[in-house]
Amino acid sequence: MHAQSGHRPTAALKGLLVATAAALGILAATAGTAPAADPPAAGDALMGRARELFKPLPATLPAIRNNAVTREKIELGKMLFFDPRLSASGIFSCNSCHNLGLGGVDGLETSVGHGWQKGPRNAPTVLNAVLNVAQFWDGRAEDLKAQAKGPIQAGVEMNSTPDRVMAVLNSIPTYKAKFADAFPNEKDPVTFDNVAMAIEAFEATLTTPAAPFDQYLEGKADALTDTQKAGLELFIDKGCAGCHNGVNVGGHDYFPFGVVAKPGAEILPPGDKGRFAVTKTADDEYVFRAPTLRNVTLTAPYFHSGKVWDLRQAVAVMGSSQLGATLSDQEIDKITAFLTTLTGQQPRVEYPLLPASTPATPQPVFK
Ligand code: HEC
Ligand code: HEC
Repeated sequence: MHAQSGHRPTAALKGLLVATAAALGILAATAGTAPAADPPAAGDALMGRARELFKPLPATLPAIRNNAVTREKIELGKMLFFDPRLSASGIFSCNSCHNLGLGGVDGLETSVGHGWQKGPRNAPTVLNAVLNVAQFWDGRAEDLKAQAKGPIQAGVEMNSTPDRVMAVLNSIPTYKAKFADAFPNEKDPVTFDNVAMAIEAFEATLTTPAAPFDQYLEGKADALTDTQKAGLELFIDKGCAGCHNGVNVGGHDYFPFGVVAKPGAEILPPGDKGRFAVTKTADDEYVFRAPTLRNVTLTAPYFHSGKVWDLRQAVAVMGSSQLGATLSDQEIDKITAFLTTLTGQQPRVEYPLLPASTPATPQPVFK
């Protein structure tokens, strides 16, 4: 029995489904067939409205563009995700900053990486990241395989190089065998590209289905309390759902932070102009991807600056900055109650056993 990273005992089956879908070239970015939903009960107009704006998170693995997901790739990707030897110091793994026991984040204002350096931005969760339109707060990586190469090389994160990563992996026979299993048709499977492909395949398993809100969208009217429903109604009526919608309740488009009123420099540091750095278009100054709000109660602190620790305050800031609305305490409570319904089943990840280093493995370097 392989240690799988699925949410359920059916992980193997899901893996198979995805492999088949991918082999057929079916792209299910917003993921597959929605489960057969019961029609909303007469009078439950709210459920009908919600279904027009949001989609339940499917229980099947989303297929990935140009990367057929197999069990072998997932298993290798999981090892790489947890292996600190991808960093120059041997200290930081992907899981250091995207801790899968902590909602896929590090819980820090901004991340701390190589040499105790503090990076410029808060770490977004890897949970459900596969469903986002592009990766990073500014969308500068088009998908997870493009994304994964960034942190390994970033000076403030893992501070390694593709050559060093290749030297590490080639020095460990078990890794060479795992790459051969995961990329069976390749003559020289241990490549930096394949590191990224395998990590992407593992990350595709990190979805969190069956949140109370998903159950509601699937027709279970009592999956939300009355207060949570009132919060959902406010979330739609006040306009939050204009930017945070779809299967990921966000993650699919870019907006200025401060559509109506710019938040203070404390929350929106003037030095980080967001998507402007990607597109060099004046319109994109202080534009950021609206993040997914799935599992948001697990992922404090909030915003790309990580300056807000209280979800209620984040909701208030959104009201004033994005909608020009001063939300009352009661409204904030209700919206926050709704946001708690977005916490889904967390992936059950069994910690992988990593193969031992050999005398040929490059030694850690700290500067
Ligand atoms: C030192 C901390 C750190 C490490 C180590 C790290 N990350 Fe990140 N990660 C971040 C930060 C910070 C961001 C946001 C950067 C930005 O938007 O400019 C991020 C962004 C991401 C995103 C984008 C999510 C989204 O919604 O946009 C993914 C996916 C991700 N990292 C995966 C990984 C993987 C895979 C690894 C290992 C190869 C890794 N990270 C290593 C801190 C880290
Ligand atoms: C015009 C688009 C827009 C609207 C409307 C909007 N948001 Fe946002 N939201 C964003 C963007 C963009 C960010 C990221 C800001 C940043 O950190 O740069 C964000 C961030 C957030 C965050 C922080 C999430 C995290 O992981 O850091 C929360 C919570 C949030 N929004 C909730 C709401 C709520 C509740 C409403 C309605 C009161 C709302 N949003 C309205 C675009 C919007």
